[in-house]
Amino acid sequence: MSGSKLKLAVLISGRGSNLQALIDAAADPAFPAEIALVLSNVEGAYGLERARLAGIPTATIPHKGMGGGEAGRRAHEALIDARLREAGAELICLAGYMRLLTPFLVDGWHDRMINIHPALLPSYKGLHTHERALEDGVRLHGCTVHYVRTEMDAGPIIVQAAVPVLSGDTPDSLAARVLTAEHKAYPLAVRLIADGRTRVEGMVVHIEQRPGDEAGLLMSPSP
Ligand code: GRF
Repeated sequence: MSGSKLKLAVLISGRGSNLQALIDAAADPAFPAEIALVLSNVEGAYGLERARLAGIPTATIPHKGMGGGEAGRRAHEALIDARLREAGAELICLAGYMRLLTPFLVDGWHDRMINIHPALLPSYKGLHTHERALEDGVRLHGCTVHYVRTEMDAGPIIVQAAVPVLSGDTPDSLAARVLTAEHKAYPLAVRLIADGRTRVEGMVVHIEQRPGDEAGLLMSPSP
């Protein structure tokens, strides 16, 4: 590991396919970030196994048994915060971390904590995004990587990736298409931040453009 790379901590609760995308991206020596810690609130989460296979330090800090109230949440987050700082984390990546965070952790890592959400925010905050997109009949759906704020799924947007909704799609088939996009969007967002190309101003993330960055038109159905 090189000392000049941005140190990431990835927080997970489950299968960790986005974690895997970050692990794979970081395997490239040219990637400007490295994963210093993978932390789960769920014992036995498969993402922990992915981290171990990649030789990345892991920590499990279960929320169970700490009480569900404000005091329990705060105590749980204090343990997480201490572990993140001990690992020298500089950017926290929430990747399927299925627990709402309180202002203690969110504000403590202001502009240094990002999340991936399976919808094109600000549409479809919350859960069951694919079902809701299908019910609404939208033609484009996708994912968003954003900075975390205390209001859920509401922080400044760094990267979005759109996919078409095809006739005959089910929530599962749409989720699979979005997940493929997530695995590209998350490493890109981390790279932009690690390269110092992002600047947050209010709700807007300004991204330093480079030649060739212009994307083409995305239309669904395609013309
Ligand atoms: C992803 O769909 C992500 O957008 C959402 O939770 C899911 C996590 O999947 N926040 P995985 O654990 O990364 O496979």
